[in-house]
Amino acid sequence: MYKFNKETYEKRIQWYKDARFGMFIHWGLYAIPARGEWVRSNEEITKEEYMNYFYEFNPQNFDPAQWAKAAKAAGMKYVILTAKHHDGFCLFDSKYTKFKSTNTQLKKDIVKEFTDAVRKEGLKVGLYFSLLDWFHNDYPHYGDKFHPMRNNKNYTNENRDFNSYLKYMHNQVEELCTNYGKIDILWFDFSYDDMRGEKWKATELIKMVRKHQPDVIIDNRLEVSGEGKGSLAMCNPTPYHGDFVSPEQIVPPEGVTNINGEPLMWESCVTMNNNWGYHGTDNNFKSGEMLIKKLVECVSKGGNMLLNVGPDANGNIPPQSMKILDEIGQWMNKNSASRYKCGPSGLPKPDYGRITADMGGNIKYVHVFENTIGPLPLPGFKKDEIKSIRELATGREVPLSTSWVHSDYPDMCFANLGPNPILPDSTDYVLKITTK
Ligand code: GLC
Repeated sequence: MYKFNKETYEKRIQWYKDARFGMFIHWGLYAIPARGEWVRSNEEITKEEYMNYFYEFNPQNFDPAQWAKAAKAAGMKYVILTAKHHDGFCLFDSKYTKFKSTNTQLKKDIVKEFTDAVRKEGLKVGLYFSLLDWFHNDYPHYGDKFHPMRNNKNYTNENRDFNSYLKYMHNQVEELCTNYGKIDILWFDFSYDDMRGEKWKATELIKMVRKHQPDVIIDNRLEVSGEGKGSLAMCNPTPYHGDFVSPEQIVPPEGVTNINGEPLMWESCVTMNNNWGYHGTDNNFKSGEMLIKKLVECVSKGGNMLLNVGPDANGNIPPQSMKILDEIGQWMNKNSASRYKCGPSGLPKPDYGRITADMGGNIKYVHVFENTIGPLPLPGFKKDEIKSIRELATGREVPLSTSWVHSDYPDMCFANLGPNPILPDSTDYVLKITTK
């Protein structure tokens, strides 16, 4: 019987809870067709045709130091790279396949250079690994829900040996866990239908992983996908339960709890436009301003945000994404204290913004997204408990208001932001409130 050890769990997850903000990098051969990382499945492309991208792959500007620097400058604390996506192409020098980056014109072990570069910036290292594999002959083809050859009767599954695929998959995870130093996060993707849990031989897999990487944080997708929470949330953890829930393309409306209503660690993974892998014509980029607010939303609800970039076929993070990262970085430079090591405040959400709280102390951060008419109400705060109010960006004192206009609300505190209705930071103006 597996026994969940809450103490070990809390210990290993602490840095990750503190971090709150990470970068996801989706990169692979699919950057060449530039129609997203699902292109082979979506367009039912044969293996032979897809191989052309493998022969062509030769990113001239591959420089993971630039990726790591961009992540750090944006205030991110960890970076997760797709070591293998569903197409089966390995960005690492696996000895179990020829379909890997070292055999392309680039000739490099991308994972090796990536892990070195990320650590050099002082950030934590994560690897994404796809459980699905559309390249391996022993993975179900015809009739599978997602395989590119799912509709092609020539690809029946008679002579396919799923156990042999599992062996291959486990071997590769072992390579990732032994050849690249300390791995901080393993991000498996994903389970569907009966392809979940023990179908992946997950107990055995995680036993091996934990042997090599005792402190690694693992997502919940050996059990579920972006849909579903997993056994930790059911309060009945399996040996391969995830350490966090991984909602995708949504910030959970009320955070995430287990069936007993207790808060559970989660990480919302989010794209900047509408694709994970590089997409040449998808210009539906969210604004930096919006993403700053959504990050604050995640923190105020006790979760992390994993923000994606999809470098192009030359290895460059698209300029639109760099601009967003830069905007986030500029805000972070002044305000990151309201996010790092912070979480829910327990106070009511004000209608002009959100509140985050320092998890270790008596500091609350009031995030003002839009100004109010009249002094700024501080719901949940009591006058005699407030020690000081400071503008986080400058440390400038912000007085409590003594105006007559709020005399009808004697139990509410109000801050006096001064006569100018334009906030000093139009995205998210942060007040640091220290209580006694
Ligand atoms: C989905 C997709 C995949 C993407 C992942 C990120 O499960 O299959 O393409 O990598 O989400 O969360």
